Amino acid sequence: MEEKKDILILAIESSCDETAAAVVKNGREVLSNVISSQIALHTLYGGVVPEIASRKHIENINGVILQALEDANVTLKDLSAIGVTYGPGLVGALLVGVAEAKAISYAAKLPLVGVHHIEGHIAANYIEDKELTPPFVCLVVSGGHTHLVVVKDYDCYEIIGRTRDDAAGEAFDKVARAIGLGYPGGPKIDKAAREGNPEAIHFPRAKVADAPYDFSFSGVKSAVLNYLNGCKMKGEPIIEADVAASFQRAVCEVLVSHAVQAVKDYHLPKLALAGGVASNSELRRLMKEACEREGIAFYYPSPGLCTDNAAMIGAAAYYEYQKGTRHGLDLNAVPNLKLLER
Ligand code: KG4
Ligand code: ZN
Repeated sequence: MEEKKDILILAIESSCDETAAAVVKNGREVLSNVISSQIALHTLYGGVVPEIASRKHIENINGVILQALEDANVTLKDLSAIGVTYGPGLVGALLVGVAEAKAISYAAKLPLVGVHHIEGHIAANYIEDKELTPPFVCLVVSGGHTHLVVVKDYDCYEIIGRTRDDAAGEAFDKVARAIGLGYPGGPKIDKAAREGNPEAIHFPRAKVADAPYDFSFSGVKSAVLNYLNGCKMKGEPIIEADVAASFQRAVCEVLVSHAVQAVKDYHLPKLALAGGVASNSELRRLMKEACEREGIAFYYPSPGLCTDNAAMIGAAAYYEYQKGTRHGLDLNAVPNLKLLER
């Protein structure tokens, strides 16, 4: 019998402020995973500056790809396809990755597979746990998205809940800025909260009427800003660690209760986390506790696979490739690309 050929995909991710490339084998095995982060640069401005992000991507992308090929000890000839994030994200940033992927696809005569960024975040779980298969419920919490998704199959999703205003990561970033912790806010709040009391201040846990899986984080964000202003006006000291811990607890409790409710309602006893906020230590701890209590199998990528990276794009590209997805050289960046729902 002829031995099945391994599928090696070179994946490229440039949707925001990380220039990343990876080589992934058969969707689950990471042969290399290179990330050039622009965080230090954007920290100067307190957030991502889109034009600077694009310029940095163009500077770094070739080096990052060469490194990914070298680390994996492969050449373009060994590859089966090129995978690339084509949305959602910052258009100028996405275009750099898409143009690069098209050039390599053309020059090396390799199929081009465009990938949805969120599909990539979800697929990070397939790398982390080789046994995980759909269907399962996935809580996607990143800087731009907060979605509760039923992953029906590798290429089939149903978004059952979403944020009505700020994304969870956005709330972390804005609150961190208000407390004076700087950018990027999520990891800074996570760290500061370790020294604080999560029950020191009660911040609201928002529910959206008639939409049990939807989220709203603008209320808790405003509550933190009001609290800080109140302290300043009364001349009371602000204990940053307590504010961080109390805010984090309020956000995480809502994320956990909604996700667990969805798992129960949909009778799918598997729950996965995805996206940058999924690396939050309190969220992982609370979700793990809840899952143990409820008899739910819990999956979460290691922190490096939660935040933006190209390995997750390689995993998602593999399942798209197997399905037959092929993009032409007219592939464009789609900044508001929707997740394929069926
Ligand atoms: O997934 P990601 O890297 O990029 C997007 O697709 O948006 O997510 C970035 C977001 C940022 O808002 C960042 O503050 C947040 O993830 N984040 C965290 C943590 N690490 C990153 N939020 C909370 N706790 C963390 N440890
Ligand atoms: Zn992301």
